Amino acid sequence: CGIVGYIGNKDTQAILVDGLRKLEYRGYDSAGISVFTSKGLQVVKALGRMNNLEAKLEEHPLVGNAGIGHTRWATHGKPSDVNSHPHTDATSKFSVVHNGIIENYLELKDELIASGVVFVSETDTEVIAHLVAREYNGDIVKAVQKAVTFMRGAFALGVLTEYEPNKLVAVRQASPLVIGVGKGENFIGSDIPAILKYTRDVYILEDGEMAVLTEDAVELMTIEGNFISREIFHVDWDAVTAEKGGFDHFMLKEIHEQPKAYRDTMLGRINEDGKGVHFTDLNLTKEQIKNIRNIQIVACGTAYHAGLVGRNIIESLAKIPVETDVASEYRYRSPIIAKDTLVIVVSQSGETADTLAALREAQANGAHVIAVTNVVGSSIARDANDVIATLAGPEIAVASTKAYTSQLIAFYLLGLYMAEIRETKTTEEIAHILAAMDSLPEQVEQVLTQAPIIKEYAEHIAQHKHLFFIGRGVDYAVVQEGSLKLKEISYIHSEAYAAGELKHGTLALIEEGIPVIALATQEDVLEKTLSNIKEVKARGAEVMVVSYEERREELMKSVDKVLSIPRTLPLLTPALSVVVLQLLAYYASLALEHDVDKPRNLAKSVTVE
Ligand code: G6P
Repeated sequence: CGIVGYIGNKDTQAILVDGLRKLEYRGYDSAGISVFTSKGLQVVKALGRMNNLEAKLEEHPLVGNAGIGHTRWATHGKPSDVNSHPHTDATSKFSVVHNGIIENYLELKDELIASGVVFVSETDTEVIAHLVAREYNGDIVKAVQKAVTFMRGAFALGVLTEYEPNKLVAVRQASPLVIGVGKGENFIGSDIPAILKYTRDVYILEDGEMAVLTEDAVELMTIEGNFISREIFHVDWDAVTAEKGGFDHFMLKEIHEQPKAYRDTMLGRINEDGKGVHFTDLNLTKEQIKNIRNIQIVACGTAYHAGLVGRNIIESLAKIPVETDVASEYRYRSPIIAKDTLVIVVSQSGETADTLAALREAQANGAHVIAVTNVVGSSIARDANDVIATLAGPEIAVASTKAYTSQLIAFYLLGLYMAEIRETKTTEEIAHILAAMDSLPEQVEQVLTQAPIIKEYAEHIAQHKHLFFIGRGVDYAVVQEGSLKLKEISYIHSEAYAAGELKHGTLALIEEGIPVIALATQEDVLEKTLSNIKEVKARGAEVMVVSYEERREELMKSVDKVLSIPRTLPLLTPALSVVVLQLLAYYASLALEHDVDKPRNLAKSVTVE
């Protein structure tokens, strides 16, 4: 979910709506705003996308000098008008927007019902509005502080009351929130892009902190009421970076931004002589790196898939045993963390609740945690012992592309850095790999020029209901991402299989005409992959292979179509081959006329368990 809030003399409604538009990627089941108007606190909310809310606001504009807004991704209570935020108390004098989950809301709800409160929605948030109203005794700050003491869980709140129209109260407890500082106006937002258009000066709230905003001032304090002073964080990103920049969809724009993302992520980390890698500010010492016994990579979704490639990278470069886990499994399986275990969490947003919890679990067990993340001010970045930033820039499309490939670059750099320290690769070998990495951005450009051929093939597979992806080694890791990408945005069912595993069951599903997409970039196992291709061909499958151009002629003897990638080192192929699969998913979604950037049921940033 996303929160935005404003207090000041400008057009409050327009500022809230604009902020919510920027936050739509966090959830778009419903949206709403509440503004303190001359008729008191008024709320307008609507199910579905922002357009619905805007249509309602056209009929009932809200004019006033303070307001809060919310875009929802349903957790408690189905998406509906009444379950949309903001929520109010029974007197409609208090209104609340909330991001996160109140774990003990049922308990609190029962208690409130027993005292006579009537609930109108099924949400956990409504509980907060009633609690604040119950605790109000002439001071909204105190009422919020008191209400929060009853609540367990993760939440970021924005609270307004008609009794004190010149105040906006914000609270952060394990759910992100920033405060924007302006002149004669102030803002709250669940992330920086929501308010970037209006101010570049922000305070980033920490867990357990709150802010009281008036037009002219921002007071920061702990939830217990102790005042805090903090330096303003000046944001130097460009607001247009977060816009579509001429492309039809954010996803396509972000796919095309990959060459830049590769360069930026490598920038300043490769020694000038091209023979080694360095990370500034890494707390993990060389001594510690020498002693690492095993590594656990933990992440969700696409970031998890980057971690699967990361395992191959680190094992092959630094010769350290690596396991990769999805965060929601890792955190509950009592992971065995020894003295010299290193944990690497990977997260584009840096806010994914399961990944954050896994990080904390690992730290509680004594692990040093490195976060590979795209958002340096995020919760995960702030909690980790070390941060390796991927410099992909803001990613808006729900289906992750440039963040994933930048995560791969981060793993290559980290693997090489460890290999140098542990002396598992010679300087020449490292220089050779770095030289090949240097060509990757240009090679991605070459892959992008094949978009028309990929589009044609995508239109073909869009006619199918099921398909398979196969590969070996890093190709297996990459097809898992390719399959996820296709499922996320085209809703075509696909499965990714280790090519050699297909015959142990899945082959039963291969029938006449079913598309099988094979990645065959790992030439040491090319023959093996080819025999797996023959197995599916013999059962009527229609096979498309991604390999090198030089192999086209030979491959065309046994398959139906070949898409090629430029020649690179075997370990580096994921950085190129995945781009073919991203474009394939994109064009399949387009052919089926789905909402590419905002696939149904999914949210960009999942800050609930
Ligand atoms: C959500 C998104 C996925 C993303 C995953 C992990 O499910 O829809 O695209 O891969 O979260 O997000 P993170 O920000 O931690 O990389």
